[in-house]
Amino acid sequence: MSSASRICVTAPASIGNVAAGFDVLGMALQPQTPGIWRDRVTVTYADCDALTIEGRFASAVPGHPDENLCMIAARLVRQRLSLDDVALSVTLDKGLPAGSGLGSSSASAVAAAVATCELLDPGRSRTKRILQVLDIARQTEAHATGAGHLDNVAPCLLGGLQLLTPLGPRAVAWPAELLLVVASPDFAVKTRDARAVLPQQVSAQLAVEHASNLAGLILALQTHDFLLIQATLRDLLAEPHRAALVPGFAQAKAGALAAGALGCSLSGAGPAVFAVCQAAKVEAVSVALANGFTAYGHSADAQVCQAAQLGAIDRIERL
Ligand code: HSE
Repeated sequence: MSSASRICVTAPASIGNVAAGFDVLGMALQPQTPGIWRDRVTVTYADCDALTIEGRFASAVPGHPDENLCMIAARLVRQRLSLDDVALSVTLDKGLPAGSGLGSSSASAVAAAVATCELLDPGRSRTKRILQVLDIARQTEAHATGAGHLDNVAPCLLGGLQLLTPLGPRAVAWPAELLLVVASPDFAVKTRDARAVLPQQVSAQLAVEHASNLAGLILALQTHDFLLIQATLRDLLAEPHRAALVPGFAQAKAGALAAGALGCSLSGAGPAVFAVCQAAKVEAVSVALANGFTAYGHSADAQVCQAAQLGAIDRIERL
């Protein structure tokens, strides 16, 4: 068993899809406002299983252990290790709004999975720990959204921009001079509902354009080719079908682009929206994003973010 009797893990917010990479590209976020938009999960031994939920967004999270993603993740870890009879106390400090498009379900599940693995199965290599947590999180994501996509899970676990390849997640360098302005409006959209509006099939022409955008974006990020980022940071697959679920999105996007953003799209399934820009533009882009939602009677929390260098696997406290 572990030398530590209590493990606390912090997991960052993330952007799924990053416009051109539906289900295969995701970015961990480090907001410039300290302490916001993250989940923290603490796991310790107990006499019987217990779940405590606290924090700013606690009220939106299911409290029943069969529905709560932290408990589901902790139980899956226990099953994998054949330690079902070990009782655990799990505390979730919920700092991410649920149904926001900021990777809230991934953050809770990843933090809980990492913490439980570290408590019950310490000393694994980093590579094995990553595989262990990705396996658990694929299941919790499928439970939460109906699909086991890892575009939020991978950056949440590993930090930075992550591309899901046939060989697993691979880090893609994000140019330090590019910032992300992320606006999270005051309403929720369930990822399951946002996936239900997507077509099951697309035309060959659209598939080709989508592939060109994704490949072009990865190349543009590597070569710091901002013109190519501007041309490729586009979502042809999901955004056109989801825009109607997010009142104010079209206005927010138009405003951000007019204010100098290189690109703007829904964050994951929405309703949060992100825009990519250089430092000189962040104020105007922040105002434009917030105004788009205000015009539809919604407030939005706009935050300037950088790529988070550290994911949950590097934010473990052994207490
Ligand atoms: N790739 C997922 C989607 C992210 O767009 O449905 C959801 O968080």
